[in-house]
Amino acid sequence: MRLALGAACAAAAAATAAIALATRARSALTYRLAPGSMRGLRAVVTGATSGIGLATASALAAAGAELVVLAARDARAGEAACAAVRARAARGCVVLCAPLELTSAASVRDFADAYVARHGQLDVLVCNAGAMLRAREVAAEFGGAERTYAIFLGHALLLRRLEPALAASRRERPDARPRVVHVVSSLERRAPALLDAAGQLRVDDALAPRAFSTTGAYATAKCAQLAYVQELQRRRGAELVSVAVSPGVVNTRLDRFLPSPQRAIAHVLKPLLLRTAAKGAETVLYAMSAPASVVAGAYLRDCAPLRPSAQASSALFADRVWRHAEQVCDAALAGAPRA
Ligand SMILES: NC(=O)c1ccc[n+]([C@@H]2O[C@H](COP(=O)([O-])OP(=O)(O)OC[C@H]3O[C@@H](n4cnc5c(N)ncnc54)[C@H](OP(=O)(O)O)[C@@H]3O)[C@@H](O)[C@H]2O)c1
Repeated sequence: MRLALGAACAAAAAATAAIALATRARSALTYRLAPGSMRGLRAVVTGATSGIGLATASALAAAGAELVVLAARDARAGEAACAAVRARAARGCVVLCAPLELTSAASVRDFADAYVARHGQLDVLVCNAGAMLRAREVAAEFGGAERTYAIFLGHALLLRRLEPALAASRRERPDARPRVVHVVSSLERRAPALLDAAGQLRVDDALAPRAFSTTGAYATAKCAQLAYVQELQRRRGAELVSVAVSPGVVNTRLDRFLPSPQRAIAHVLKPLLLRTAAKGAETVLYAMSAPASVVAGAYLRDCAPLRPSAQASSALFADRVWRHAEQVCDAALAGAPRA
């Protein structure tokens, strides 16, 4: 009996060691920002309080960026993230945090306007924030859009409102277009068909799906965002470089929507089975630093091109998503309350 128990323990220990080795191999970094490679650049990272956003902000600061602004909707989490990033920052790098709730048009406007007034120039914008929600919620300021989709709309509005800072980057660095990197997900493939027979966006499905599911809403938002990234490159490619990244399956807090028993199990298994946040951020760093000719308009995973779903690569779909986002953002801005 004791012998059998000993053998079982040894087998469990060997399995754990094998999984840990596989995990380490899965998370081994193959791309890093060279020291000093971000020198002189000013960057904003949304969703920078944890996970991939925090890892991205840390890497930017460590590589010598002049300014890294961590957008955070919770001030205390933002300050904690700032302290962590400052601890790794290269000398001279200024690390700040500023409040941003992407599902509020007023918050997006205030964040962007304060950035433009205070810092003037923006060279790298990382649209990283994202969430999986347990139940259907709506964002009143974005026309009652489902909140996962509203995070995408908030990023579209943020980009528009930061335009004066992107223009300043073009003036200061005439040889380099500012970069806009969007973190999407390969789950975009699971989005329902979002165009109707007449080629119009099924606004009901995008904004207020009748039958809510966490994955369905998430996939819809990411599919629209991926199409938007490509449309951004088509429409504004002379002025900026727009890139989408799928980070892989990463050990972060994205699973907060799970009920607590499942979350407790995931908490134990995730470090063993998933890649680290630093590995998840790797392709984001590649997207912001590889030659523009290689990454402009691309969808990347593991620092290599990934093929979008048929829907996300449809030019018609992208055009409809773009027009709809413009329309909703205009209305949201017009109605956004002033403090
Ligand atoms: N983890 C994965 O396996 C995986 C896979 C594919 C794609 N992604 C994408 O990667 C990105 C980063 O996620 P993560 O995995 O690093 O998860 P995470 O640790 O949960 O980070 C998400 C960040 O987004 C912020 N955020 C959420 N809703 C927001 C809102 N309405 N307004 C402003 N900020 C908001 C969160 O802030 P709070 O702390 O205040 O909530 C947090 O800072 C997301 O876009 C996600 O969809 C992740």
